[in-house]
Amino acid sequence: MTELPVPALSLVALIGISGSGKSTFAGRHFAPSQVLSSDGFRAMVADDENDQSASAAAFDALHYVAGKRLAGGRLTVVDATNVQDHARTNLVALARAHDVLPVAIVLDLPEDEAWARTQRRPDRTFDRPVLARQSRDLRRTLKKLSREGFRTVHVLRGHEEIEAATIRLQP
Ligand code: CTP
Ligand code: MG
Repeated sequence: MTELPVPALSLVALIGISGSGKSTFAGRHFAPSQVLSSDGFRAMVADDENDQSASAAAFDALHYVAGKRLAGGRLTVVDATNVQDHARTNLVALARAHDVLPVAIVLDLPEDEAWARTQRRPDRTFDRPVLARQSRDLRRTLKKLSREGFRTVHVLRGHEEIEAATIRLQP
């Protein structure tokens, strides 16, 4: 078991390609109300968690709710791939605006394993190149998280490390 220290008042960005286990991890370690997922917000604004054309509106709404939570001093977890620079830039800015610590938890599962899982999911229909692009973006992401302003960066490499991790909230 590996305990990951996380400040109790923080904005936690889960980072990982589709199928890496972000939602599973969030469900295991955080209360449902603490987790804001891009899928959930796409469904909220467009009735379809896979409707990529709803992403802008979905993230707008997600950031709005995250801001309200952080203003109330509530730990907030963002369950989205967060492999694109602008996604993380927005989260760091949001954390700073509310004077809380931006935390990155990276789920770095090999692309082949994520793809195998994705193919078993009826709720995911994208093609492999989409996942390959996310993997490339993730590799770049890993090199620059600290520089981007994430004060705590936890990188879990592979299924075993992801499974063994627990969260320890720090006052
Ligand atoms: N899964 C698994 N074993 C785990 C974790 C997840 O078999 N230890 C399965 C889940 O049941 C799910 C798939 O792998 O069918 C993807 O997991 P999920 O947590 O949904 O991954 P996400 O990173 O949230 O994927 P997405 O970005 O597409 O939402
Ligand atoms: Mg998910």
